[in-house]
Amino acid sequence: MAKPDTVKIIRPSRRLEGEVVLPGDKSISHRAAILNSLARGEARIDNFSPGQDCLATVRCLRALGVKIRKRGSPNSPTVFMLGTGADGLKEATNVLDARNSATTIRLLAGLLSSRPFLSVITGDASLRKRPMGRLVEPLRLMGADIWAREGDSFAPLVIRGKKLRGIEFGLSVASAQIKSAILLAGLFAEGRTVVHQPMLSRDHTERMLGCMGANLDVEGTSVSVQPLSRPLVPFSLRVPGDISSAAYFLVAGAIHPDARIVVKDCGVNPTRTGIIDILLAMGAKIKIDNERLEGGEPLADIVVESSRLKGLEIAGDIIPRLIDEIPVLAVASCFAEGKTVIKDAAELRVKESDRIATVASELSRLGARIEPLPDGMIIYGGKSLSGAKVDSHRDHRLAMSLAIAGLMAKGETSIGHAQAADVSYPAFWDTLRRILH
Ligand code: S3P
Repeated sequence: MAKPDTVKIIRPSRRLEGEVVLPGDKSISHRAAILNSLARGEARIDNFSPGQDCLATVRCLRALGVKIRKRGSPNSPTVFMLGTGADGLKEATNVLDARNSATTIRLLAGLLSSRPFLSVITGDASLRKRPMGRLVEPLRLMGADIWAREGDSFAPLVIRGKKLRGIEFGLSVASAQIKSAILLAGLFAEGRTVVHQPMLSRDHTERMLGCMGANLDVEGTSVSVQPLSRPLVPFSLRVPGDISSAAYFLVAGAIHPDARIVVKDCGVNPTRTGIIDILLAMGAKIKIDNERLEGGEPLADIVVESSRLKGLEIAGDIIPRLIDEIPVLAVASCFAEGKTVIKDAAELRVKESDRIATVASELSRLGARIEPLPDGMIIYGGKSLSGAKVDSHRDHRLAMSLAIAGLMAKGETSIGHAQAADVSYPAFWDTLRRILH
């Protein structure tokens, strides 16, 4: 059941201090659940993402016959899976519901295109507006029978699974979801599948498939996979903290005049650390400690302190490495000296909300000066913000970014549809409250 609409009130705080425990990484959790459902045997996934998106993946996999148990604390669940190989997947007796989660619908569509049964996958109102043509096209080239609404553009998707053939495909957008969907289909296709990316996108699928015994090669921005000759090996792991969730606290610590925040056990996969690179380039005092490798992914502890930031240009290859963090980087830019220009980020228009429009409109309500561009925005820093009524547009990243802006605004900020944060970070509001002094 969807949670009722909630409003959160945020007021400025004298000091920000404390240790932040992050939710498990959303992208890695989706992949751990999906790939282990293709393995044969038991796997244990600790610190699985507690967000609604990964819960949607678990529900869909259960509906496809995968045995999954969830235990432990609500903010850091452990998921036990019993995979029976891809052949163990069964036709669901109802429509699969990916809810708000594009990763769920796109990765599952890639997988289900090869399973010999009918699948229908849909999602909530936001997901049903997000582009699916980019997914349908390569899967059709592989021979898939897949259809979508409005000329194969939007969910629901209907898939009649069948034998596929490997392809060599050049992605026009640097999308890890589409890349992963093609690779998943490629595991069960005839012949090799090769995906060329215009820029590097997050590589969690490649890393995990490598750990599970798939025959996969990465060369620069190209990835190739051979069809599986035996089932994947189950892969137990502890999921690193989500750097996309850490981003709110990294920005809060950097822009607040009296702050010291420690973020523990944060994933620092280089395809995701654009936020750290840009904050450092803006002048943030960030220290990375205790770097180590766990479950095929690098993680570290991060310390951030009050800093004086400078505006800069954010464009090009770094965009896919920080795409989900642009809303909160826009907040950071409001408190930086000079202007920040964000370009090459048209993908923001097709996220959980049109994030160019929603970031510009909501931060403007607080008094920020932001000029939307077709593929980004210009933020004029150094203007003080004042509390006002804003809305998340039911977009988790907007809800949390507005909370950080509210902390720095004079007076009271009221955030409508604040429950959206549950999609990736249900404990966000409690965690935030604990560092306010
Ligand atoms: C994700 C990939 C990105 C990102 C999304 C999660 C993933 O989307 O924005 O939040 O887990 O693969 P695209 O693949 O559309 O770029």
